[in-house]
Amino acid sequence: MENFIFQNPTKLIFGKGMIGQLAKEIPAGKRILVTFGGGSVRKNGVYDQVKEALKGFEVTEFWGIEANPKIETLRKAIELGKEKKVDYLLAVGGGSVIDGTKLISAGILYEGDAWDLVLKGCEKHTLPLGTVLTLPATGSEMNSGAVISRKETAEKYPFYSNYPVFSILDPTVTYTLPPYQVACGIADTFVHVMEQYMTTPGQSRLMDRWAEGIVHTLIEIAPEVLRKQDNYELMSEFMLCATMGLNGFVAMGVRQDWATHMIGHELTALHGLTHGATLAIVLPGLWRTLKQKKMAKLVQYGERIWHIDQGTDEERADKAIQKTEEFFKSLGLPTRLGDAGIGEETILEIQKRFTQRQVAFGEDQDVTAEIAGQILENCK
Ligand code: NZQ
Ligand code: ZN
Repeated sequence: MENFIFQNPTKLIFGKGMIGQLAKEIPAGKRILVTFGGGSVRKNGVYDQVKEALKGFEVTEFWGIEANPKIETLRKAIELGKEKKVDYLLAVGGGSVIDGTKLISAGILYEGDAWDLVLKGCEKHTLPLGTVLTLPATGSEMNSGAVISRKETAEKYPFYSNYPVFSILDPTVTYTLPPYQVACGIADTFVHVMEQYMTTPGQSRLMDRWAEGIVHTLIEIAPEVLRKQDNYELMSEFMLCATMGLNGFVAMGVRQDWATHMIGHELTALHGLTHGATLAIVLPGLWRTLKQKKMAKLVQYGERIWHIDQGTDEERADKAIQKTEEFFKSLGLPTRLGDAGIGEETILEIQKRFTQRQVAFGEDQDVTAEIAGQILENCK
């Protein structure tokens, strides 16, 4: 096990009706900027619950943080926050609203253009932020990451910001999610765990078991969650899987990959493809490309998750990759570039971008532009 420091300050408030707790979590007298996406929260009652819970606070609303939040939109929210002198933020929505609000919380305290913060990070100077999560997927409700896009240049970059002070997770608010978003959320959670797991075995038995526990749970609940979305117990499990998948709990003392995500972000930046859908395409292709290097862990994964206990290591690894791709297909997601209408020119463009940026992703920083190109070729 490698040395590590673990500290996750986010308070989780979980369960039916818990949005009503909001007022207890925000200090009296705060001037709050509440941020939203495109309006789903008006239809499912979340907006009314938030409004009711915040009675008595000075509240400014900002609407319209889009999926894959854009700096062009967030600049407007930052301007509004400065004008209203807000000193607390509340994000109500999915990962995009929460990520965007992390940037707003830093941008309000920053004199220059907020895009600078995306490029250099903004861990120190941020306003406090709480969240009401409506989409289990990103883990943004309990981590310090965010991913921001820039429309004019079709770029999308991750950066590190602040942890939410608290996050409210009421599984009943997920009942209105479009099935495609549920599928993408399951895939995103699955791949978050794999980015922290699929390196080499023998680093930590405990991290391996916890990671396998999350993935196992996802595979078990996925068919039922997709069939019947208003099952409280199952949506609770899904929500908790998503949060635990990317809040540092399965990352202690182990190496991490993240190349699938970095390549997936380019597919979203260039084609607007939903985040989880990009991962369902890239992960199997990355494993096909890096099979020799990840062989021992693929075999462990295949045996423990898919009960593959026959054949040579190579045959077992192949089977594990095939089972994973079939799982993504069973969610109704594309698993090949062609399924999403993405062709050769995108592979060349991503390779060009990565060459210019001199990228080196993966647990050994050996996924260069050239290897990323091979991975994408293996996603055809
Ligand atoms: O905008 P509204 O109208 O609210 O609709 C949203 C949006 O269209 C809708 N939705 C959300 N909750 C709903 C709902 N519709 C009905 N009922 C509900 N309860 O779902 C659509 C997608 O929402 P979005 O927030 O974009 O999805 P997600 O949570 O998957 O977030 C994706 C973003 O997070 C980033 C991704 O790159 C992408 O930009 N990520 C953030 C991470 C992090 N902060 O740690 C890690 C991830 O790897 C990921 O990269
Ligand atoms: Zn992700």
